[in-house]
Amino acid sequence: MADVAVLGMGNMGAAVARALLADGRSVLVWNRTATRCEPLANEGAEVAPTPTSAILGAPVVIASVLDYRALKNAMADQLDLTERTVINLTWGTTDEARELAELVSTRGGRYVEGGVLCRPEAIGHPEGDILYSGPTGSIEEVRSLLASLGPIHYVGSDLAQANALALALGSIFYASVLSFLEAVAYADRLGISADVMAPLVRIPLGLAGSTIDASVDQIERQDFIGSEASNAVHSAALASVAQAFTAADIEHRLTDAVSSYFDSAAQLGLSHLEVGALLRIMSRTAAEFNAT
Ligand SMILES: NC(=O)c1ccc[n+]([C@@H]2O[C@H](COP(=O)([O-])OP(=O)(O)OC[C@H]3O[C@@H](n4cnc5c(N)ncnc54)[C@H](OP(=O)(O)O)[C@@H]3O)[C@@H](O)[C@H]2O)c1
Repeated sequence: MADVAVLGMGNMGAAVARALLADGRSVLVWNRTATRCEPLANEGAEVAPTPTSAILGAPVVIASVLDYRALKNAMADQLDLTERTVINLTWGTTDEARELAELVSTRGGRYVEGGVLCRPEAIGHPEGDILYSGPTGSIEEVRSLLASLGPIHYVGSDLAQANALALALGSIFYASVLSFLEAVAYADRLGISADVMAPLVRIPLGLAGSTIDASVDQIERQDFIGSEASNAVHSAALASVAQAFTAADIEHRLTDAVSSYFDSAAQLGLSHLEVGALLRIMSRTAAEFNAT
């Protein structure tokens, strides 16, 4: 028996297997396309020919494949998972996470849900942030293994919690990076290169951080009156951004989407409030949206 099996030798799965090997674990790896296991075999991993042999070959199975459909296929054999823990690092919806947890549990196994919030290169390092949820007993059983991957952010026993939080926080990641790319396109059109702008990016990110902190405080107090910047001010500033991006003839769908929120804020009488008040717009149900 190996210490741990890793299903999926893509960028993330390979990084996970590598970090475990680096910590002295015996690692069994499987990948649909077998050639992708070769680098890990050269680094000391054992290769399993099938997902079933990988699952049966270790008490702990870490899965990192493209999506839940791929993982369900890999786990299609009706195996007895008694005394086994499946740690799922594959991204998917919370319903998919619950379904998979149910599948593992009906076969007698323990299930830990993981939400990866880092790049593969960070795995095994202090920036290797992964959220975990599941019964505390199951987490404790595998705590030392998880520590090989990076900080353990345990977010609760409701197994879908890590998944839901990773999706929520992941949305911040995607919007931030695409917003940066819109800005690069604009600056580039004006002859300013990305390497001039890149070191300055920490300024708006820091500003976003402090505005988020202030919004959290305002949301807790449900009081959005402040003395920093009103939505009217944000809206006017953003209109200048959109105008400049339009004049430069670049794609700026994200900026337009953000502008549309401020337009809604004006329609709903939220212009005098600070930006956290826009949460009222995001929180509307479809029925409430249609009624406004
Ligand atoms: N990369 C990141 O920065 C990052 C960050 C956070 C979370 N994640 C999550 O980590 C998971 C893996 O991502 P990755 O970056 O490692 O992706 P990747 O490099 O594209 O690798 C995808 C993996 O999924 C396997 N796969 C795809 N379809 C399959 C199928 N139908 N049956 C069996 N295996 C299948 C691939 O096998 P083949 O080699 O045979 O195609 C490969 O092992 C994803 O859920 C991703 O959202 C990734």
